[in-house]
Amino acid sequence: MSVVRSIVAGSGSYLPEKILTNEDLAKIVDTSDEWIVQRTGIKQRHIAAEGQVTSDLATEAAKRALESAGRTPDDIDTIILATATPDNTFPASAVTVQANLGMTHGYAFDVHAVCSGFVYALTTADAYIRAGLAKRCLVIGAETFSRILDWEDRTTCVLFGDGAGAVLLERADGEGSTQDRGILTSHLRSDGRHKEKLFVDGGPSGTQTVGHVRMEGREVFKHAVGMITDVIEDAFSATGFSADDLTWFIPHQANKRIIDASAKKLKIAPEKVVTTVQWHGNTSAASIPLALDTAVRDGRVKKNDLLMLEAMGGGFTWGSVLLRW
Ligand SMILES: CC(C)(COP(=O)(O)OP(=O)(O)OC[C@H]1O[C@@H](n2cnc3c(N)ncnc32)[C@H](O)[C@@H]1OP(=O)(O)O)[C@@H](O)C(=O)NCCC(=O)NCCS
Repeated sequence: MSVVRSIVAGSGSYLPEKILTNEDLAKIVDTSDEWIVQRTGIKQRHIAAEGQVTSDLATEAAKRALESAGRTPDDIDTIILATATPDNTFPASAVTVQANLGMTHGYAFDVHAVCSGFVYALTTADAYIRAGLAKRCLVIGAETFSRILDWEDRTTCVLFGDGAGAVLLERADGEGSTQDRGILTSHLRSDGRHKEKLFVDGGPSGTQTVGHVRMEGREVFKHAVGMITDVIEDAFSATGFSADDLTWFIPHQANKRIIDASAKKLKIAPEKVVTTVQWHGNTSAASIPLALDTAVRDGRVKKNDLLMLEAMGGGFTWGSVLLRW
């Protein structure tokens, strides 16, 4: 049976030039390189330059994804940008990316699911492609979390960074089997009862301010591993695959301890885990495409590899996407 599949035709990423190391942070708040590395695995993060906004980072990642796919903006019809740190309350930063790319056709919009944003955006793009609403879609995750951090709060400011990553998703024909290339299954979840455990204490309707990230770190940690493993097991049940079948596990890069604990619980071999959190910290919606693009460009990810992507974040939101490269 012939079915419509969404295949990844190219990827790109962008990190701002400025690097903030753990040693740099220890000069701002009472922390140390040892504490941060031991608890999170993070060694450094990138910080957007003054005046450099989320859509700038997103545009750069999008251009690189288009280049790697051998496509131009004329070839695409849709842009979906996952971000929790848009340039403005409105319009969506995706339309600024559209303008930056010189596109006046098609349509663009933002998706907001914080750290799960890329998994949500990828799932949305796949659904649009399969419904015939899009043929080629740029799916981007981009954040400037440095703008919503409380730089006096050592429990949060050491964890996050700025960055962007993108993939070009294209309509292709498949046979309807799990050997097809493209997205094979997606599983999204949310539970708003956990809102107070990870949130921003500002917003246009609530306070008319932008606000800062607030987090009960231990509580987030406690829930993360169970939620992540649930949606990955859903993906295994839907396809008949197991951890042994995966070529690469590309998780949301929040924290090395969460990544390692999830892989261990799922019995995913450590050498299959792509980890880049040490170089850019938690970049929220940008973290999966940043890790993915790294593993594509260094030659690890190859055609027909089976990739498991997963994320968990504020809301709580969480989800998995299983795809064949
Ligand atoms: C945030 C996190 C690293 C904290 O680690 P933890 O082992 O739970 O640490 P705790 O919060 O219990 O704090 C332990 C101590 O370290 C201190 N501490 C907190 N941040 C610190 C820092 N940056 N540097 C040094 N000490 C710090 C605390 O004040 C506390 O001190 P106390 O015992 O004197 O009260 C951990 O909870 C975590 O990874 N949570 C998940 C966060 C996450 O990934 N969120 C995003 C999901 S998308």
